[in-house]
Amino acid sequence: MATIAAPEAEFRIPSAIREERPPRKPSDSQLAAARGLPNNKEAKWPSYTTKLPASLYVDQDRFDEEHLKLFMKLPLPLAPSAYLAEPGSFVCRDGFGQSVILTRDKEGKVHALVNSCRHRGSRVTDNADPEKGRLMVCPYHAWSYDLSGKLAGVPRREVFAELDKAELGMVKLPCIEKGGIIWVKMDHLADDDFSHVSDELAIDLDALGVADMHMFALNKHEVEGNWKLILDTFLEGYHVIRLHAASLGPLYEDTVTHVDRLGSHLRQTSGRIGFTQEILAANEDSIDDLRSVVTYVYTLFPNAAFVISQDYCNLLIMQPKGMGKTVVHNFMLTNLNPQGEKLRRKWQKSLELTDGTAFPEDFAASAATYQGLTTGVVKELMIGGMEVGMKHFHELLEEKMETA
Ligand code: FES
Ligand SMILES: [Fe+2]
Repeated sequence: MATIAAPEAEFRIPSAIREERPPRKPSDSQLAAARGLPNNKEAKWPSYTTKLPASLYVDQDRFDEEHLKLFMKLPLPLAPSAYLAEPGSFVCRDGFGQSVILTRDKEGKVHALVNSCRHRGSRVTDNADPEKGRLMVCPYHAWSYDLSGKLAGVPRREVFAELDKAELGMVKLPCIEKGGIIWVKMDHLADDDFSHVSDELAIDLDALGVADMHMFALNKHEVEGNWKLILDTFLEGYHVIRLHAASLGPLYEDTVTHVDRLGSHLRQTSGRIGFTQEILAANEDSIDDLRSVVTYVYTLFPNAAFVISQDYCNLLIMQPKGMGKTVVHNFMLTNLNPQGEKLRRKWQKSLELTDGTAFPEDFAASAATYQGLTTGVVKELMIGGMEVGMKHFHELLEEKMETA
């Protein structure tokens, strides 16, 4: 089978281990996007200039409006399913202005609960890593809740007159698990319309087998920049061989990126180094082979980039803490369970190359851009023909802001 030299190519996953993940077909639209790409050597980029106002990134009113219209209204991707894989486990996720407990009950159903005890309001858990357990016990006076949030126990219950346990469950947030991702609405009064988590996106994520992937690492980064500046770095390939010249750059070349809207989300498709349609034809029967010749990057609107590499993925979720302050959680997922030492070492190298080197370069560029824009001198940003994903994202963003 024709393959493209890739950073991971020095290590082939033994076929006995590969059997753990049976071959999956790509979705029709993943395949169509790849078949529409030119050979890298024949790439021709569109020529245009789109302008974005700098105030998108450095205006406090705009930031507050985005918080209300996007972050408090839309279902947000909070974690991949693999992060909370075990039935009977729970974990605390802080962000978006409140602390949330994600649980997976014994039946495997996921719940999202506001992390606030119904006795006197304390946080119930600080657990940053998933923990197995039947009950969550508030550390203050030991009220306990089951994994669906029901109040299960009150010490010295007789000292509370008229206490109805059925009415004192933890407050629930609307939540859904779809495409291998847990989506939560941050407003507990919101309805449970999850049409935003579009079927078109779920078809792709299911073809990738995201729900069956394995957690390899979760890393947190604090970035002194607006959340959209970080997302922008995952919306164009123009910078790759330039900003990343000393890291990833030599493994890539300038390529044409094809962008599709999948309901409320975006997919960018581009050929890896040396891509030709002939190489594609030899690798298009299974999604895992396809991923060795084509890179897909999804934007889970509004605030996550999902980068699909050859046999692992990075889900980067941006949590705005302020106009110029963002926390990024990077969940690295692997196709296979990384039990063996060899596999673990291989993916550890990939983690160092992405999370340890290239992503920090993106974050530094975002922070530097934020600083530059706050001078107020540059009133407009320019987007050219190699930044087509950014153009699509900002059009989508304005549509959502108008209709919210
Ligand atoms: S505040 Fe939780 S038990 Fe008292
Ligand atoms: Fe980058």
